[in-house]
This record gives sequence, structure tokens and C-alpha cells, in this order.
Amino acid sequence: MAMGPTLTSSTTTTANPPSQPRKLTTQSGGAQPAPNRGVQRMWNSSIGIKVIVAITGGLLLLFVIGHLIGNLQVFLGPDALNEYGEKLRAIPALLWAVRIGLLAVFLVHVVFTIRLALLNRQARPVAYAKKTPIKATLSSRTMVVTGLMTLAFVLYHLMHFTFRVTNPQYQNLVDAHGRFDVYSMVIMGFQNVFISIAYIIAMLLLGYHLSHGIASLFQTIGWNNPRTQSFFERLAFVVAAFIVIGNISIPISILLGWVGLPGGGM
Ligand code: HEM
Repeated sequence: MAMGPTLTSSTTTTANPPSQPRKLTTQSGGAQPAPNRGVQRMWNSSIGIKVIVAITGGLLLLFVIGHLIGNLQVFLGPDALNEYGEKLRAIPALLWAVRIGLLAVFLVHVVFTIRLALLNRQARPVAYAKKTPIKATLSSRTMVVTGLMTLAFVLYHLMHFTFRVTNPQYQNLVDAHGRFDVYSMVIMGFQNVFISIAYIIAMLLLGYHLSHGIASLFQTIGWNNPRTQSFFERLAFVVAAFIVIGNISIPISILLGWVGLPGGGM
């Protein structure tokens, strides 16, 4: 049976009880040096974690939008896409710096999101559990699941198109100008119906994750209030839908034969 107001314990464990005087610590006698305490406080605070998740999520969103705009050049033909790929690889040191930065942002986002889900679960006293709105629990759980599935997709995607481990035959694709033939790689990749379906499913999961993630981002930065909430939820949905439809249009157009190999090869 659900009990009365039992929401007291978990959030107050680190604070000094109001009736006791604050303990003075010497400079070296504290349990931990100050910077460590700051990091630890952040690690244990839902608000701090939400801010980190929002910042890293925003950066990943910018990457996904930029990547989509780059990918849509497949509709402009081999020259445009291959030239774009060539430009991205023009300065290897810069490319690797961006890759390592992106990886770090991705890892921080994943680790802190899982930490937030665990903190939320710990902070909920047992008697309160039954009163938790089912919608909120389902949504945060689905965020972790769709996030981990996106992680699995990105790992596969890197092995597929970036390192070409799953399909080493792409490795030697070169266009008429001697550039790596990204265009033919994408067409050959999505002419495989199973790969296309896997990408489409991954994009739908990503879309769900993004529409909820973007809405939470607006909440974290404090733009959300009862008047603006429905506007920001709709905006989040529209941005996510743009990303999903844009990305899915590529495998679908290739499967339907609207976009094909240079010279019409299959
Ligand atoms: C249909 C959709 C997509 C297509 C056609 C596509 C295409 C590509 C291609 C061709 C590359 C390799 C570029 C090169 O080495 O020249 C690539 C790399 C990459 N893609 Fe995608 N992509 C898609 C969706 C996504 C999504 C949704 C994400 C993230 C959630 C993503 C994340 C990445 C990452 C992280 C890389 C590695 C970038 C690097 O080289 O450092 N892609 N993608």
C-alpha cells in the first residue's frame, strides 16, 4: 500500500543537519581537495548531470544535423558527395581531433545519462515507487534503451562506412578523379535490403530518442514552462522528424532505384 509523505531521506544525506554547527576543516585536513569535491558534487547531483547531458546531447544533435546535410549530397550525384568526403579528409590531424572530441562527447553523454537514470531510481523511496507516473518511468527507461541502441548502430555504422571492416570490398572504390568513391559505397551499401532495413529501424529509434531528448534539453535550459511546453515539444518533434525523414530518404531512394551507381550499374 502506498504511504504518506515519505520523501525525505535520500536527497539530504550529504547536507549538514541544520542544528549542528558546520565543521571547520584545515586546508589539508579535508577528506578531499576542493576540485575533487566539485566533481563529486556534480556526479551526485541530478541537476549537474542534467546540464552535462543537455550540453553533450546538444553537441551530438549539431553533429547529426551537419552529417545529414552532408549525406543529402548523395542526391546531387557522385561528384558532389565525393568532393565533400575529400574535403572532410583533407587535414587528417583536424579530422582526428574532431573524431576524438566527438567520441569523448558521446562517451560522457552515455555515462552521465546512465548515471542519471540510476540516481533517479536510488532517490525514489520504496513507498513512493507505486506513485511514480508510469509515463515518466517508461520514457526515461526508453531513453536509455533507445540511446544504447543508437550506440550499437553507430558502432556498426563505423565498421560499415568509416573503417569498412564489414564490407572490405568498399576499400578500393575510387572515382574518375582518383578520390575515394563515397557515393558508390553508399549506393552499394543500401542496395542490400537487409542493411537498409537495419538503418531505417535505427533511424526511427534515433528519432524517438531525439524528440524526447530535445524536449528535455529545453526543460534543462529553463525555457520550458506551462505556456511554452507544447510549443517546445512540437519543435522537438519537428527537428527529430526532419532528421529521421532526411536520413531514411537515402536508403529508400536507393532501394527504389531513384538513385543508383554512376553509369547505371546495379
Ligand atoms: C542514412 C543515414 C546515414 C548515412 C548515409 C551515413 C553515411 C556515412 C558515411 C558515408 C560515412 C563515412 C564518411 C567517410 O569516411 O568518408 C559516415 C561516417 C559517420 N557517421 Fe554516418 N551516415 C548516416 C547516419 C548516421 C547517423 C544517424 C549517425 C549518428 C547517430 C552517424 C554517425 C557517423 C559517424 C560518427 C561517422 C564517422 C565520422 C568520421 O569519419 O569521423 N551517421 N556516415
